[in-house]
Amino acid sequence: MRKRLEFIGYTFLFLLMLPAAASAVAGVEEKYQPCAACHGEQAQGNVDLKAPALAGQDGAYLTRQLAHFKAGIRGADPRDTQGAQMKAMATTLSEDDIALLAEYLAALPQAVPVASVSGDLKNGNNYYHASCGACHGGEAQGNPGLNAPALVILDASYLKSQVQSFQQGLRGAHPDDKYGKQMKMMSNSLPSDKDLDDVIAYIQSLAVSP
Ligand code: HEC
Ligand code: HEC
Repeated sequence: MRKRLEFIGYTFLFLLMLPAAASAVAGVEEKYQPCAACHGEQAQGNVDLKAPALAGQDGAYLTRQLAHFKAGIRGADPRDTQGAQMKAMATTLSEDDIALLAEYLAALPQAVPVASVSGDLKNGNNYYHASCGACHGGEAQGNPGLNAPALVILDASYLKSQVQSFQQGLRGAHPDDKYGKQMKMMSNSLPSDKDLDDVIAYIQSLAVSP
């Protein structure tokens, strides 16, 4: 009798949870709506607003960035006007919101950024594989094991602005930014603006080639 009651109890609980699971998806889509204004309906990014693509980015990376914006580890430097916009947004999110949004965004299909720069692809190729590929992957697809995000989904102007932010210490300089610090060190080893442009042109060529 007791077992039977328990069974009925569990079945009842299970039925109660089904609509909750469905509404978690509806809930996260609703939570994403304010973000869509800058990052786009499909999280494909918006070059004019300097908002990067988020769709298909690594979930742990997205979680860390949102937590860092919220905690003032990223976007708090007074020179970082783009980061400041995002910091303001992140302060409205709870830890649960961050986890839900990151999971949702990571699962969206990646978009191919519009190619907008040209450069010396041979130099870019050499440079990329000598200095970036070990962490960001041979196809710039990212490497979650090394905490390195996908670059192939990002547009050229965002890529450039981030590398420059690392170089100038707007990003990656906070003492709690363990992984940002790694990237900051790397950005300092890029000898010239031309190399950076070539690397970015090369990353873009990976995105457009099938
Ligand atoms: C007012 C425009 C705006 C809104 C609204 C906005 N963002 Fe952003 N977001 C930005 C900009 C600009 C950046 C780039 C910041 C930089 O250059 O460092 C950014 C960066 C990010 C990043 C870092 C991506 C990366 O590759 O490092 C994440 C994650 C992110 N936004 C998620 C969100 C989420 C989730 C929301 C909604 C809760 C949201 N954003 C709302 C403008 C916005
Ligand atoms: C030692 C490993 C390592 C190497 C080598 C490296 N990176 Fe990174 N990179 C990282 C990590 C880790 C992050 C994430 C930092 C964070 O969590 O804020 C990152 C972040 C970035 C970002 C920010 C992406 C975003 O969505 O905002 C860009 C752009 C970038 N790297 C470009 C490059 C380029 C270009 C090179 C080669 C010149 C390079 N990286 C070499 C580890 C590396």
